[in-house]
Amino acid sequence: MFFQQRAAANATLSYFFGCAGHAKAVAVDVVAGDEDWFIAQARQAGVRIAHVIDTHVHADHYSGGLELARRLAVPYCLHESNKGRVSFDFQPLADGQRLEAGNVLVDVMHTPGHTPDSMCLLVRDMRRGDEPWFVVTGDTLFVGAVGRPDLAGQERRMAAQLFDSLHTRLLTLPAELEIYPGHQAGSACGAGLSGKPASTIGFERRFNPMLSMPRERFIEAVMADIPPRPADMDRIVEANLRGAAPHPLAA
Ligand SMILES: [Fe+2]
Repeated sequence: MFFQQRAAANATLSYFFGCAGHAKAVAVDVVAGDEDWFIAQARQAGVRIAHVIDTHVHADHYSGGLELARRLAVPYCLHESNKGRVSFDFQPLADGQRLEAGNVLVDVMHTPGHTPDSMCLLVRDMRRGDEPWFVVTGDTLFVGAVGRPDLAGQERRMAAQLFDSLHTRLLTLPAELEIYPGHQAGSACGAGLSGKPASTIGFERRFNPMLSMPRERFIEAVMADIPPRPADMDRIVEANLRGAAPHPLAA
């Protein structure tokens, strides 16, 4: 397996990983303007990007996922709940669905809370073992923090969903499983994110302050800690839903 974490703009973390033996790769949470980087990485590694995935429709940055998928003529994957919500074709992913990139297998987990369409991606390398090795957590679980509910006016309901996604899905995973989040410190997508861009389920279970609270206290803490909505958030979501992310290098 090869694996790269890219520290993109706005403290966003993107991922490029896959199977060298079968020359297949997966690109996750590509930021607009980074498409060339992914294409260059694939060329360098001599692999083909088979799946381009956004863990959710982003509100803090323009996605480069659709553009990269179009340039490569491969499907752009989003959670199935975006059917009828976005104005372009995409490959809908359902909870429990498995994507294959050679010996690397990606299992979709629907983990609503940060947004209704949030997914985590459970990744295994069959060359190493048949158990998952790491989970790409999007904006559901960060190192030292959790995602903030993005849906204005629905924060309490979404915070409750986030608690359930964390406790019934992510925290039931093995302690040694690595986690790779969608942001690090400096992001407006959560409060108290660590500057360390990776952790494990076991370490977060012990030392992430948001994970030791009972449900009601968690909801209150999430609500109290919601960072101010970035001014251009609505515009960014709208552009990502229309598949019209402006290219940062365009005039
Ligand atoms: Fe997000």
